[in-house]
Amino acid sequence: MNIGIIIHSQTGNTLSVAEKLRAALALEGHNAKIERVAAEGEKPQDKDIKLISIPDCEKYDALVFGAPVWAFSLSPVMREYLKLVPALGAKKVCCFVTQHFGKPWLGGNRSVKQMSKMCSQKGASISGTGVINWSSKEKENQIAQLTSRFSQI
Ligand SMILES: Cc1cc2nc3c(=O)[nH]c(=O)nc-3n(C[C@H](O)[C@H](O)[C@H](O)COP(=O)(O)O)c2cc1C
Repeated sequence: MNIGIIIHSQTGNTLSVAEKLRAALALEGHNAKIERVAAEGEKPQDKDIKLISIPDCEKYDALVFGAPVWAFSLSPVMREYLKLVPALGAKKVCCFVTQHFGKPWLGGNRSVKQMSKMCSQKGASISGTGVINWSSKEKENQIAQLTSRFSQI
């Protein structure tokens, strides 16, 4: 399958997970490509977010969305992007977030739910979700488990 891994990543954490996932999907025989969502400035306090990179997700058979947690919520850059995404048909979609804090209930769960809800509202079938807690000693384990689960999309 052609799989789009569409991410927002400001400091590279989410990107590094996406790269491991791309490698795992390739081992399963998929053609996976990472594309980045970006906005002008990307300051957390920005009220009006102007997206300057808006990947086209229509060309993919399945999608993975990844983003950081900002202020206990999904990064506003990814939120704005998902608002613009056209109907997803019944495409399989996986969603993940990365966050600094060590526990998923400190914003990670909430953010990944926001993402999944926005995708479901566009018709997607959610195949998997995940939270990576960057300051947790379980981080590498979490990444390994996420890539293993998501590569069965
Ligand atoms: C503006 C801003 C707000 C953040 N708020 C949170 C937060 O509420 N909870 C948390 O665990 N991490 C928070 N973080 C940390 C990021 O979620 C974390 O470092 C993430 O892995 C960054 O991903 P990236 O490197 O792909 O941009 C915040 C970071 C920024 C820049």
